[in-house]
Amino acid sequence: MGGKVTVVGAGFYGSTTAMRLAEFDVFEEVVLTDIVEGKAEGLALDMNQSRPVEGFETKVIGQTTGLDGSGYEAISGSDIVVITAGLPRKPGMSRMDLIETNAKIVRQVAENVAQHAPNAVVIVVSNPLDEMTALTQLATGFPHNRVIGQAGMLDTARFTNNVAEKLGKPVGSVKTLTLGSHGDTMVPVPSRCTVDGQPLSEVMPAEDIEELVVRTRNGGAEVVALLKTGSAYYAPSAAAARMAKAVIEDSGAIMPVCAWVDGEYGISGVYLGVEAEIGREGVRRVVETDLTETELAGLKQAAEAVRAKQADVQDL
Ligand code: LAC
Repeated sequence: MGGKVTVVGAGFYGSTTAMRLAEFDVFEEVVLTDIVEGKAEGLALDMNQSRPVEGFETKVIGQTTGLDGSGYEAISGSDIVVITAGLPRKPGMSRMDLIETNAKIVRQVAENVAQHAPNAVVIVVSNPLDEMTALTQLATGFPHNRVIGQAGMLDTARFTNNVAEKLGKPVGSVKTLTLGSHGDTMVPVPSRCTVDGQPLSEVMPAEDIEELVVRTRNGGAEVVALLKTGSAYYAPSAAAARMAKAVIEDSGAIMPVCAWVDGEYGISGVYLGVEAEIGREGVRRVVETDLTETELAGLKQAAEAVRAKQADVQDL
């Protein structure tokens, strides 16, 4: 057991991520911060009190931070920082509607992270995801490999769950993949999907696959519409926590993440959902997979869409 991970933002996404990270029992410390006075401290105390029941030793530390950067000393020496700060969607909103508000919040957080945890690998989950990841890299000045966004793990999990439910199969029998943006230009990759090792296209009619692709693309909005007061957090936090675990364990796991793409798939200079090998330094390398022509075209279209928006965030 060792290492320190910080989760910035103690909303539902942040607090469930902190809880999962603590329950892995691989970190020495999980720091949870929030700008609401006492919230992070209260949640940390509550999580620590669950330790005897759940049997983990990781210590959770809550810390209120000020807009002036006060309190950020608590994150110093973090190996990993997960940024969840920002507002979630309300029903009817797209992730992109959050860009101006969340850019201000994420920029301020990123600057404090750069100052107090200059060696951390940063995992961004704030929305719009691809743009907030790009902004965090700019605002921290960290090398691209040390700034990653969480989206592909979540979107892929949703795709897998959708397929498993439709076929009445255990989720463990189903493998899927999504690439591209965490938004309208998400690219579910049916050619990489299997059920008990068989290609998805052999066990499901094309129109059913298309229906599940659409449902996956709208997976976040489907939850928002039901919750009405915020967005999903159980599946998102599961995904973010697994990424952090892969980093601290230097596991070399290949995961779909939002990573800096530099020539792969003929795409360069943009943060985009791709598969990457994750280790102690963040992204070790982007892993290219065989795509059909339609899937590759979708990925290129996603790259151009997020490239345009990522250029905008420089000024936000
Ligand atoms: C979602 C949000 C967290 O997809 O982006 O649920």
